[in-house]
Amino acid sequence: MCGIVGALAERNVTAILLEGLKRLEYRGYDSAGLAVVNKDQQLQRRRAQGKVAEVEKRLEAEPMKGHLGVAHTRWATHGVPSEANAHPHLSSDELALVHNGIIENYLELKSRLTKAGYRFTSDTDTEVVAHLVHQLYQEKQDLTVAVEAAIQQLEGAYALAVIHQDQPQKLVCARKGSPLVIGVGMGEYFCASDPLALLQVTDRFIYLEEGDLATLTLDQHAILDRQGQAVEREICQWQHGNQAAEKGSYKHFMLKEIHEQPAVLAATLEGRLSDRRVLPQALGAKAMELLPRVKQVQIVACGTSYHAGMVARYWIEKLAGIPCQVEVASEYRYREVVVAENALFVTLSQSGETADTLAALRFAKEAGYLASLTICNVPGSSLVRESDMSLMTQAGPEIGVASTKAFTTQLTALLLLTLALRRAAQASNQDADDPLEAELVEALRALPRLAEETLQLDAEIEKLSEDFAEKHHALFLGRGSHFPIALEGALKLKEISYIHAEAYPAGELKHGPLALVDKEMPVIAVAPRDDLVDKLKSNLQEVRARGGELFVFADPVTLLEPEEGMQVLHLPEVHEVLAPILYTLPLQLLSYHVAVLKGTDVDQPRNLAKSVTVE
Ligand code: AGP
Repeated sequence: MCGIVGALAERNVTAILLEGLKRLEYRGYDSAGLAVVNKDQQLQRRRAQGKVAEVEKRLEAEPMKGHLGVAHTRWATHGVPSEANAHPHLSSDELALVHNGIIENYLELKSRLTKAGYRFTSDTDTEVVAHLVHQLYQEKQDLTVAVEAAIQQLEGAYALAVIHQDQPQKLVCARKGSPLVIGVGMGEYFCASDPLALLQVTDRFIYLEEGDLATLTLDQHAILDRQGQAVEREICQWQHGNQAAEKGSYKHFMLKEIHEQPAVLAATLEGRLSDRRVLPQALGAKAMELLPRVKQVQIVACGTSYHAGMVARYWIEKLAGIPCQVEVASEYRYREVVVAENALFVTLSQSGETADTLAALRFAKEAGYLASLTICNVPGSSLVRESDMSLMTQAGPEIGVASTKAFTTQLTALLLLTLALRRAAQASNQDADDPLEAELVEALRALPRLAEETLQLDAEIEKLSEDFAEKHHALFLGRGSHFPIALEGALKLKEISYIHAEAYPAGELKHGPLALVDKEMPVIAVAPRDDLVDKLKSNLQEVRARGGELFVFADPVTLLEPEEGMQVLHLPEVHEVLAPILYTLPLQLLSYHVAVLKGTDVDQPRNLAKSVTVE
């Protein structure tokens, strides 16, 4: 949700800011802008509605240079996408501010500032912050002190970067509820919503904590914590290389990320398995002590991550014998929950910054859970920092708005957690051999290879996608732990191809959705080898009998073969417990190819953004 970049250097920073915006465009892409303080110590600004390319054109037509600047790519919350609402917002043409988040008391502040003589030129909540800081700067004559005083008055969430033309050696930034990192250069400093934006200029980062305010000058940084105390924060070295943020030879990030799955599944397993078991240290020392006490698991997440949690419920109850509940974070956080004794609270998130999930964690920390664990893809993210324990997926940066490799690595990590819970719950001797665990460990080792083989179906799936390009609706079916995979398939198709798609547990078909089935309704089913496959086959017959067109991804042993009205693609044989991970891949490829045929913006679908840091 919105991307921020700031830079202070001895060189011209316009190109750095622009490149940062391009790398952050996945966070929001309805308008963008930059402001710099030029050599005459004057603030200049260029903004445009639409993608970053539009502001780039504006810059080509009217170049500007400066060694201090801030920039922003927007995902609209208050006010339509337009140039007037694009950031940076200025106050008195002297101060420029960019913001990610939502200021909840902006109307109250706006009325006060209007009375004080400030004139508003946008419908955003952000502009009030620019005027508020400006008003306080008039009084304090120091940008850090003004920002510090202003944030005391803000209710809501923010990551901010602010510059003032009278203090051309200073970049001030602050965060509460929205992510912000400082990039540490050689005699230069940067800030951004995501380190990816700054990999062009540095690989050393400081992850600001909740309530931090940082003042950056050319050769030093100073950080105040939420109590206003000076603090030191660790400088972390970026470990993922720079290619992660590049598409390489792929046409889209989504396709690259789908094809990275064999490698990132292997990376997620690396160092976490021994010959016949999940290594006890895989989840950290704290987990070894806490997991034996767990009597219930509550999983909370949003979107695709929520679907991963739904699969985990089947695993945790079946394999570890522990009751497990799963809920979307936006519901959970506002509910009066009853917390069972010794319940483990688990959040799942690619970004680690999803506002609803983070709020649910904060709520849960007060609610009496035994402990909190996050399964997350971004080291140093808010969820990782605020949870008692973390298990990192090793997917590497995911840029496509549609989550792909983050989901399958989450599932892999969740299976590791399940096996750790199983051992903790079932074995009185923690070193005892467990033949089922050994079988699953072997199956996990084979997973990257099977994923590679499954991706070889790409050309056949691309062909299949031609049958979808003219369709307006689609139905996805699965049973058991594959019902969440059907949900995930439907989510992928709707978010990137804009085809209306729904998913049902196949047994529910006859309770209503069967009424929708005719030859215009493609029905996609996942049919792995499991106890429910014969029941699924009967459900597929119900569809065929109504003239529905079936597309089935099946294990060869199911004996499902292509026939009139039913296309079948066979996946490699896989252990039934791991099948949800593998059966996700063809659904990702199907959505991708349908979207490409329809000509939609695959990596940046309309109305969406990658990291949902607002409620
Ligand atoms: C899925 O393709 C979406 N990007 C979305 O549903 C996403 O999974 C959700 O917003 C949660 O994000 P998180 O995993 O970063 O918390």
